[in-house]
Amino acid sequence: MMQQKIPDHIAIIMDGNGRWAKKRGLPRTAGHKQGAENIRKIAIACNALQVKALTLYAFSTENWKRPEKEVDYLCKLPRFFFKSYMAELKRNNIQVLYLGELDKFPEDTRNVITTAVAETKENTGLKLCLAVNYGARREIILAAQRYASDVCEGKRSLSIDETEFAGYLMTSQLPEVDLLIRTSGELRISNFLLWQIAYSELIFTDRSWPEFDEEELRKAIDEYTLRDRRFGGLKDEN
Ligand code: FPP
Repeated sequence: MMQQKIPDHIAIIMDGNGRWAKKRGLPRTAGHKQGAENIRKIAIACNALQVKALTLYAFSTENWKRPEKEVDYLCKLPRFFFKSYMAELKRNNIQVLYLGELDKFPEDTRNVITTAVAETKENTGLKLCLAVNYGARREIILAAQRYASDVCEGKRSLSIDETEFAGYLMTSQLPEVDLLIRTSGELRISNFLLWQIAYSELIFTDRSWPEFDEEELRKAIDEYTLRDRRFGGLKDEN
């Protein structure tokens, strides 16, 4: 087995829950439940590999357009997830974070997420970051507004560089995204982490999210390692 280069930050667009369920004659919600269970599996695996951050696209700003029943179910999933797995996340020293605007969610969903963040804030292992009601364009607008208001209030100068602007984004506490994975065959970014993936390696797999297991994660990291090595080789030859 080759020596793997472990990415500091992996981001995943968890697609294909609905199709996974349909193929098995199950309701779409069963796919989302299986998807939530898979978050546990992949988070534990990333933590064991000493990945520093794992950011997962759990609910986009566009997902509100889905049928009310499905939206309701997705809003209830964080409670199920943390009730089932919080003890294990804590045992593994995993820190829970979120990206996105919580205010649109029902109170219970908001509380469950903010409690998980508070209860794990001292943990120093993997940062498990859930993107909920997240959209990258919205994130960039909010960052621009905060920057503009700092300028207007005289707190900073108008001139700004990339590192300083990144400090206004929701990911300011996370390392650079090294690897972005999208499951289930679609070749789109769908408004996820647009600023942050400027230099990321991109991997698209046909596997649906519920079927994306540790073996697939290992394969994605192997591919990432190979791409990095090619770049290293070129550098070495020069
Ligand atoms: C995309 O599959 C998946 C989603 C829109 C939801 C992803 C959410 C989870 C996996 C669980 C969230 C859990 C927590 C704890 C926040 P799709 O429904 O678009 O699949 P399809 O393209 O096959 O229809």
